[in-house]
Amino acid sequence: MKNIINKKNISAIILAAGEGKRMKSKTSKVLCELLFEPMISWVSRSLQKLGCSNSEICIVCPDDNDSKDLIVLATNNKFCYATQKQRLGTAHAVKQAIDFIKNSKNDNILIMLGDAPLVSENILKDFYDYHLSENNSLTILSSEIKNPFGYGRILRDPNNSKNILKIVEELDCNQDQKLISEINSGVMCFKKQALLIALDKINNNNIKNEYYITSAVDILKAENQKIGAYNCQDEKVVLGANTRFELLKMNEIARLEVIKNLAENGIEFISTEGVVISPSVKIGAGSVIYPGVILKDFCEIGENCVITSNSFISKSSIGSGSIIKSSYIDNSKIGENVKIGPFSNIRPNCDIKSGVKIGDFVEIKNSNIDQNTSVAHLTYIGDSDVGQKVNFGCGCVTVNYNGLEKHRTIIGNDCFIGCNTNLIAPVKLGDGVYTAAGSTITDDIPDGAMSIARSRQINKTNWKLKK
Ligand code: UD1
Ligand code: MG
Repeated sequence: MKNIINKKNISAIILAAGEGKRMKSKTSKVLCELLFEPMISWVSRSLQKLGCSNSEICIVCPDDNDSKDLIVLATNNKFCYATQKQRLGTAHAVKQAIDFIKNSKNDNILIMLGDAPLVSENILKDFYDYHLSENNSLTILSSEIKNPFGYGRILRDPNNSKNILKIVEELDCNQDQKLISEINSGVMCFKKQALLIALDKINNNNIKNEYYITSAVDILKAENQKIGAYNCQDEKVVLGANTRFELLKMNEIARLEVIKNLAENGIEFISTEGVVISPSVKIGAGSVIYPGVILKDFCEIGENCVITSNSFISKSSIGSGSIIKSSYIDNSKIGENVKIGPFSNIRPNCDIKSGVKIGDFVEIKNSNIDQNTSVAHLTYIGDSDVGQKVNFGCGCVTVNYNGLEKHRTIIGNDCFIGCNTNLIAPVKLGDGVYTAAGSTITDDIPDGAMSIARSRQINKTNWKLKK
């Protein structure tokens, strides 16, 4: 991943111990997904792209149920983790990472909210540059929004607008303050020493009796430290998801943003209708994505591919020039110039090499299919290793399961598998093997042999007349 800041002097704390009752989720809110990826992953990815190394990111997790374990799992246990046993406010949450802060070798600590996933690395970079150039002890990422209800309002000094006087939380606002449209996004950057001073002194003297991280402004002001706010024009920085409907609206924003970025990089969309692509997906220039395509979980699609409607592809790579028509592909590797579908199901652990053709109503599972093989219609291939230039007739089945255990089918190069052949595994076909249509093959076939395994046809003449 390319870092956008070279000076690696920043650590980050993500607050993720909130309840999220309104999400009606059994686990932590930050695990709710935006474009198939947990919100916490969006936040940590932006930080990584900014240049934070994994050991410089600390997530403050809730203590209830198995939420912390699930957050650790969702983030591959690659960051630092702290636990907040009681929810006593945002400053209390930050304080749970006190050892992380003290041990940090960096001069600046960024505070992020785990439920505000749309703060991009570019926004963070501009914000952080501002923090450094102003030499602030604390910089707040703010934005002006039409409906500031519920947010902390930024009070600027009327005589010097650069000077921040206070952040007033909704419940503590008077009538005039309620009209202020510039609000605190929740993202803040502290000099490490300033954060330690603030955390030591913040109290809970407010209507909610919570320890507010926003009170750091009052404390640092009293210490004559420099405080600023970076007013970001992009309202996305304040978008948090408290309900499923808010999450849905964020999905829509994020969805179009991903599509826009891809379009700018040379990917063609006929319409954005029903197209859902996770930000972890990579697509090469010249590829065409039809309406109703879903691509998720780190898929890598090559250049000049065509993926038509109702395809659903996850955890897979697709080589350049391949055409996927209305098919499912999961956890598999597809080579270059492969044709799949319409209506095929490529189940996990398939390695399908270049030039292979897989037609309609074909299911392939845990199998390797070598170059230029053709599986044109109505076929099941499971637990198999298939060579190059093999032709499967219609309706072939590798019979991989005997009710107790699974076995492999091995097929050499240049074979011709007749229509409706059953290959009862374990079984091995050499190179250049032919099977007669309708055969049920139970024994290995040597190179170059033709195998017929069906009963001979008997024609009972005049049968109808006699009957
Ligand atoms: C907070 C800010 C407010 C800002 C708003 C932006 C404070 C006091 N107020 O208000 O100025 O405009 O965010 O959305 O900071 N959390 C914990 N432990 C806690 C409490 C909260 O981990 O004990 C986490 C939550 O998971 C959430 C974040 O901190 O991600 C913010 O908490 P929340 O209760 O949503 O604060 P707001 O009232 O929205
Ligand atoms: Mg909130």
